[in-house]
Amino acid sequence: MLTQDQLKHQAAQAALQFVLPFLDTDAVLGVGTGSTVDLFIDALAEHRRGFRGAASSSERSSQRLREAGIKVLDLNDVRSMTLYVDGADELDADLNMIKGGGGALTREKIVASVAERFVCIVDESKRVDRLGAFPLPVEVIPLAREAVARVLRQFGGHPVLRESFVTDNGCQILDVSGLILDQPAEFEAMVNNIPGVVCCGLFAISGADIALVAGQGGVQQIRRGTA
Ligand code: A5P
Repeated sequence: MLTQDQLKHQAAQAALQFVLPFLDTDAVLGVGTGSTVDLFIDALAEHRRGFRGAASSSERSSQRLREAGIKVLDLNDVRSMTLYVDGADELDADLNMIKGGGGALTREKIVASVAERFVCIVDESKRVDRLGAFPLPVEVIPLAREAVARVLRQFGGHPVLRESFVTDNGCQILDVSGLILDQPAEFEAMVNNIPGVVCCGLFAISGADIALVAGQGGVQQIRRGTA
């Protein structure tokens, strides 16, 4: 029986095999955040001379990329990006996701938006039939925290401030449990529309295009629209 860490390692290796054919000296790779992505960065290190560099979704990943000898590019200097690789906290059959357990959701959504395709790498514990057991992270401007929390309660949620945590953007995170996320894209738009919300951790308006899900029987590749 493989442990969760071993499965994350398998997902990271599968991601490396997936991205290699797309790498050339002009290529920029979008890189997400989290423990699974850390393993992907480690695997990518030996191929660092085979591509131009990476656009990173967090200070944490930027540091790890630099330690791996991979050039970190300012997203403003990136005109095109074929692939963005990132983990998720929950992934459903339509490749909608909850992300932001590591607090990097806003930059993740920004970097992903520049890429042509989002490749989600997870171990099988992240696969769910229905999103919402994992509390939805919502990044808020500190001044608006309580105002946003009141609206989220009206939506049926129970927001809790992530204690002693400041995002890379100088903002705070509300982790919201108790939400019914049957229509994730509509809910994402509704939360994003609350004044003071920087970004919510639902990735459904634009979810993953490809998922590499590592399980006891190997790594399954799922493409959006094939469920
Ligand atoms: C970071 O903010 C998150 O969106 C991560 O992608 C997510 O938490 C997955 O992290 P792990 O790979 O550590 O499970």
